[in-house]
Amino acid sequence: MNAQARRPCHSVFAMNQANQEPILQISNLTKHFGGLPALDDVSFLAGRGQVTALIGPNGAGKTTLINCLTGVIRPDAGAIRFEGADIAGLPAHRVARLGISRTFQNLRIFPRLTVLDNVLCGLTVEAGASLWEALLRPPGLRHRERRLKLTALEALDAFGLADKAGWPVGVLPYGDKKRVEMARAFVSQPVLTLLDEPVAGLNPEETATVAAFIRQMRLAGKTMILVEHDMEMVMGISDHVVVLDGGRRIAQGTPDAVRHNPLVIEAYLGRMSATA
Ligand SMILES: Nc1ncnc2c1ncn2[C@@H]1O[C@H](COP(=O)(O)OP(=O)(O)OP(=O)(O)O)[C@@H](O)[C@H]1O
Ligand SMILES: [Mg+2]
Repeated sequence: MNAQARRPCHSVFAMNQANQEPILQISNLTKHFGGLPALDDVSFLAGRGQVTALIGPNGAGKTTLINCLTGVIRPDAGAIRFEGADIAGLPAHRVARLGISRTFQNLRIFPRLTVLDNVLCGLTVEAGASLWEALLRPPGLRHRERRLKLTALEALDAFGLADKAGWPVGVLPYGDKKRVEMARAFVSQPVLTLLDEPVAGLNPEETATVAAFIRQMRLAGKTMILVEHDMEMVMGISDHVVVLDGGRRIAQGTPDAVRHNPLVIEAYLGRMSATA
């Protein structure tokens, strides 16, 4: 694992180490639900410091792949090599500890908690206190908590949410809730971040803000997998595009190559011509 990237940090914009090895290698990943394939022998690589987009029509298997990657569900077959180690089948908390963070297609936030507390949830790996620390609250623990709070506030600032840090998330508009999830996904200085439809339901202005943030994160050396139906956004910010249809990988390549691939046009872009 990249120890540099997992060290608790003071800046969400800190650089990852340059390394040409693919950070993630998915090989022959297969998952069936009730006998029907949601993922059928899917393989691809995600380059370090790159945005790899995962696109495909509804039901193509994109979220299933993210769920396999994050330990939410167990693949039936295949390998998921992250930083060289096979993580297929590891439980979600162990995957998170390796530095893989995510956002959810359907928001997973705590509406009664404040914006700041929701983002602090993304730092639970660093926050872990022993029982005696929790009881005695030694200076070291208090210092750590202050540092984590500063890190969370910095992440909120990056999303223009710092002035809402004390608000309960439940009262915020949908666009703000999506950005709280993004801030939570990046606050822990992840090695790899999986974004499942981060701009779904956002207006064009909010979409542009999220796209700009993803670009900024990429410039800072972050590795991301982006699941998105917004083709303009995908084609504008991705290094590599993988296309799924019916659980199978039907194409992959540069945004330009994928955009002009007849199989992709047939399976997906043709149906989305209004946004392509
Ligand atoms: N927990 C589950 N139980 C049964 N079937 C499931 C489950 N999760 C997903 N599926 C099925 O697997 C297939 C792939 O679903 P998935 O959610 O991965 O698609 P997707 O590409 O993310 O689609 P969308 O763009 O609509 O989010 C679909 O046919 C779906 O109904
Ligand atoms: Mg999905």
